[in-house]
Amino acid sequence: MKATAVAHPNIALVKYWGKRDLEFNLPAAPSLSLTLGGLLTRTSVEFRGDLDADILNLDGQVFTGAKLRRISTFLDIIRALAGLTTHAEVVSSNDFPTGAGLASSASGFAALALAASSAAGLKLGARELSVLARRGSGSAGRSIFGGFVEIFDGTQPLDSSESAPESAPGERPPRAASDAAFARQIAPPAHWDLRCLIAVTSSAEKTIGSTEGMQRTQESSPFYADWVASVPADIERARSAVLTRDFHALAKTAEASCLRMHASAMAALPGIIYWNPTTVALIETVREARAQGMPVFFTIDAGPQVKVFCPAAALEECRDLLSRVSGVQQLLETYPGEGARLV
Ligand code: DP6
Repeated sequence: MKATAVAHPNIALVKYWGKRDLEFNLPAAPSLSLTLGGLLTRTSVEFRGDLDADILNLDGQVFTGAKLRRISTFLDIIRALAGLTTHAEVVSSNDFPTGAGLASSASGFAALALAASSAAGLKLGARELSVLARRGSGSAGRSIFGGFVEIFDGTQPLDSSESAPESAPGERPPRAASDAAFARQIAPPAHWDLRCLIAVTSSAEKTIGSTEGMQRTQESSPFYADWVASVPADIERARSAVLTRDFHALAKTAEASCLRMHASAMAALPGIIYWNPTTVALIETVREARAQGMPVFFTIDAGPQVKVFCPAAALEECRDLLSRVSGVQQLLETYPGEGARLV
C-alpha cells in the first residue's frame, strides 16, 4: 500500500484562469503547456491502518490546516474509487521553491495522483490520471504527460472513437464533463528543443493563490468573460505553432495569453497584481531583445517570476541577457520534460 512517483511542473503557454465547476474543478477553458524537465517533485504515499488521520510532510515540514485538508479531500476521491477507508502518510519534496509561482501544485498533484492511486491498488491509464490530477489542481492534469500538452475543458465534441459523455438532452452532468476534461500530449519532449529560463525575482510565498485569484477574477472582473472567450482561438494558434515549430507565432500567442490573463486579474476588485518591478523590467528586456532579432519570449503565472523561452541554440545569449537585469535572484534552467512516473 505504498508507492512513490515523480513529476515535473509545467508552464502554460495558453493560460488556465477560471473554473466552470468548483466541485469537479472543471476549467472554464482549455489550456496548453510545456512540461519542465530540470525541476522535480517526488511524492511517496502509504495507506496505513494505524493512522487516524492523513499526514502531510512537505519539504520536511508537517502541515495541518488548509494544506492538509486539500490533500485529504483529494485522497478521499481515491479512497472512494478504491473502496478504502484507511488514512495515508504523504511525504513530498520539491527541488525548487514552493509557492512562488513555479507551479508546485501542478507537479505536486500529478505526483500525488500517481503515487496515491498506485498505493491504493488502482491501475489508471494516463488519461484517467490526468482527470484525477486535475481534480487536485487544474494545471496538474497537464503534468501527467511530458512535452507539449493540452487539457480540455470537457465541453469539446469527442471523436467517434471516444466514449461520449452521457448527458440528458440540453444538459451535461459534471461527472461526464469531468471525465471529458482530460489532458493529452500534442508533441513529445524531443519534438522541439525549446529552453525555458525561470528568472526568480522573489522567493516569498505568494499572497493570493491561483484558486483564490481565479475566483475573485470570475466574481468581479469585467474582463473575465472576454478573457475566457479569447482562449479557444489561442489554443488553435499555439497548437499549430508547436506542431510546425514556429517560434515567432508561439511567442506572439503565449505573450498575449499571459498578458490577457493578468489583465483580467488586474481588473478584479480589489485588483490582483502578481508582478514586482523586476517582473516588469524583465518583460521590457525580453520584448526589446526580440525587437532586435533575438528569438525569445516571456510568460508569467500567478507570481512574480518570469519564464523566458528561447531555442536551445540561443540559451547562452538569453542567460546573459537575463542575468544583467537588476533584481533577478536566480535563473533556473529547464527543458522539455517527461510525464509523471513511478519510481
Ligand atoms: C496562472 O492549477 O494552480 O498557473 O486548479 O485552483 O489549483 P487550481 O489552479 P492552478 O492554476 C494555475 C494558474 C496559472 C496558469 C496555468 O498554469 O495554466
